[in-house]
Amino acid sequence: MRPELRISEDAEAVAHAGADLFATIARDAIVDHGFCAIALAGGSTPRRLYQILAEGSAESGVPWNATHLFFGDERPVGPTHEDSNYRMAREALLDRVPLPESNVHRIEGEQSDSESAAALYELDLRAFFVSRMALLGAFPRFDLVLLGLGPDAHTASLFPGTTAVWEQHHWVTSCRVEKLAQDRITLTPPALNAARTLAFVVSGAEKAQAVASVMEESPDPGRLPAQIIRPKEGRLLWLLDRAAASGLEHR
Ligand code: 6PG
Repeated sequence: MRPELRISEDAEAVAHAGADLFATIARDAIVDHGFCAIALAGGSTPRRLYQILAEGSAESGVPWNATHLFFGDERPVGPTHEDSNYRMAREALLDRVPLPESNVHRIEGEQSDSESAAALYELDLRAFFVSRMALLGAFPRFDLVLLGLGPDAHTASLFPGTTAVWEQHHWVTSCRVEKLAQDRITLTPPALNAARTLAFVVSGAEKAQAVASVMEESPDPGRLPAQIIRPKEGRLLWLLDRAAASGLEHR
């Protein structure tokens, strides 16, 4: 299935489009199978999307008590560190909606052994998805995975030249990101690609080249990791503003 492009005027409009997508998928998931499982993107772009979700929580109809939130990746920091994806989501969303604490599934980035932290997170995921038979083949069936895109075409913590891009068995892995001098923990391509909906949320001219390369250059996920995102039986959306889409020849 070809990716679906949704191009909005600016970053604020993209954030609103992402919040609307989140709410729609959450409501539909509860009707369809009684719960909703969403993996949140990290970085800075989704902050506004999460704030809009929190601001509109009362009227959005998101069934927070049956919604479970996960993380696509985490930096090697604790939950209160300024670089923590969890902290960003907690401040923008988690502390502002009636979401049961047990519905938040955090990656323990603070663990000194990132491999064991990845294995622990995979156990959490397996407990959730296997008990609900929410699988596609051997992988978790997220209702929605939100993804960012770096200027180097990384997504989640699937960075160019790293082993994580090629992981085919685990749901979660850790890998050394030399350019950051960090170990990162990330959902793997097969775990991401089993989702019902994957949505890149990207804004800003600084991402235009990466967007164009990922969408229009021949497959080379080692250099352009976001190209590894190809839903097995789901849909792929690109929520872009005009600036991020400005490098595309075919819009
Ligand atoms: C992370 C994110 C990463 C992010 C991109 C875009 O932990 O950094 O998961 O994949 O989505 O780097 O980040 P910005 O939204 O800050 O540009």
